[in-house]
Amino acid sequence: MNADLTGPVLAYVEREKDRFLEELKDFLRIPSISALPAHKGDVERAARWVAGALERAGIRGVRLLETAGNPVVYGEWVGKPGAPVALVYGHYDVQPVDPLHLWETPPFEPAIRDGKLYARGASDDKGQMFLHIKAAEAWLKAVGELPVNVKFFFEGEEEVGSGALPACLESNRDLLAADVLVVSDTEMLAPGRPAICYALRGIAALQIDVYGAKSDLHSGIYGGGVPNPIHALVEILASMRGPDGRILVEGFYDRVRPLGAEERVALRDVGVDEEAVRRELGVEELAGEAGYTYYERTTARPTLEVNGIYGGFQGEGTKTVIPAEAHAKITCRLVSDQEPEEIMDLIEAHVAKHTPRGVRVEVRRFDGARPFVASLDHPAIRAAVSAYEKVYGVKPAFTRMGGSIPIVESFHRILGLPAVLMGFGLPGEHYHAPNEHFHLENFEKGIRTVCLYWYELANSGLKG
Ligand code: BES
Ligand code: MN
Ligand code: MN
Repeated sequence: MNADLTGPVLAYVEREKDRFLEELKDFLRIPSISALPAHKGDVERAARWVAGALERAGIRGVRLLETAGNPVVYGEWVGKPGAPVALVYGHYDVQPVDPLHLWETPPFEPAIRDGKLYARGASDDKGQMFLHIKAAEAWLKAVGELPVNVKFFFEGEEEVGSGALPACLESNRDLLAADVLVVSDTEMLAPGRPAICYALRGIAALQIDVYGAKSDLHSGIYGGGVPNPIHALVEILASMRGPDGRILVEGFYDRVRPLGAEERVALRDVGVDEEAVRRELGVEELAGEAGYTYYERTTARPTLEVNGIYGGFQGEGTKTVIPAEAHAKITCRLVSDQEPEEIMDLIEAHVAKHTPRGVRVEVRRFDGARPFVASLDHPAIRAAVSAYEKVYGVKPAFTRMGGSIPIVESFHRILGLPAVLMGFGLPGEHYHAPNEHFHLENFEKGIRTVCLYWYELANSGLKG
């Protein structure tokens, strides 16, 4: 049993929390948008900023791991031989900010309103990854050591699929060896209701390009006589989903594991209020696959969604033209045991089969990710439950989430790490949208929860 030294650690957090917030604001001022090549320099600046923050916190061996994409910031404190080793993962890259005019304050000028910190990345994921650095700092400055060994792995291309990272894990097996992966990049259920996420969906992303005549054509002169790529594309897309919300791509559901009765009850007991969601989103009716609840459809069932569609005339007024090409971007969210490459094969075959005569179609593939399901029966999970209870006064719910964090499954498959997904975001914090924000209450409670978590993990029986 380790002595309980959490008192001085939490006192340090209380004393220093205003400075922590100022530092987080500095981090948020760096526009580290991984999707936009123009921000390459900012992404690298963010990596160096994170490296500096780790060093100031007392973390050793801080370095940048070069990858085929953006650098990974690595650091460690491994001064407790025999104690468990936790690998903390987060991402310092952020999503683009458009549409810019809908932001109440500029995305990279952090502002506090009503107990919330507004900025791109405030909650996804700079605020959440940063709180881990501060929890380590609190132990190291207040006590001089951590009760467990901690390695930090902060990447810069999560928001574009982490394509270069599996190779980075393969080539750094020894450096990254650990007993558990700890991630704060998910959501709580509601204010005051923390959650440990046990399942993330995978993803398959593609683009369909449809080509007709060599050039745009006058729709009066040629209309009625030549194929129109937009109509062809619309037919292809319409063939992919039935009116009951089922995906009609042949073989799409073949590998989907049916939800067990027990899990369905557990998901129901999480208590997602469909009418409240409907009102909050401002839609007339929720939609999706028949036979499943909204919560099941958005977390435990696979999807196929068109994310963007373009072609033809986009300006004001009308233009009498038959476009030469049309394009659609599609992503599928995947659940166990669907495989991204196989799903893309199936979609490609479906597209070929449903393409009307007279147009040419190409299907382009982007990086995919497999779905992930964690085992809840693990000492590292039980330790997290205790830490949450002490800070939030309630047990965390166990939730599935519909989003993807591609590398979590890779850490599990390549390095054998179980995962604890302890997120401190809240639904409605506008991830990827204008006015993203992070509730300061959860920034502070998150730091305290992680501080206590290291103590609980040290005493969890997990072997180092
Ligand atoms: N942090 C999110 C994923 C997330 C959000 C998980 C909410 C659970 C609850 C992550 O940064 C993200 O947005 N991932 C992308 C991955 C994609 C670009 C490959 C996603 O899910 O769209
Ligand atoms: Mn994220
Ligand atoms: Mn994100």
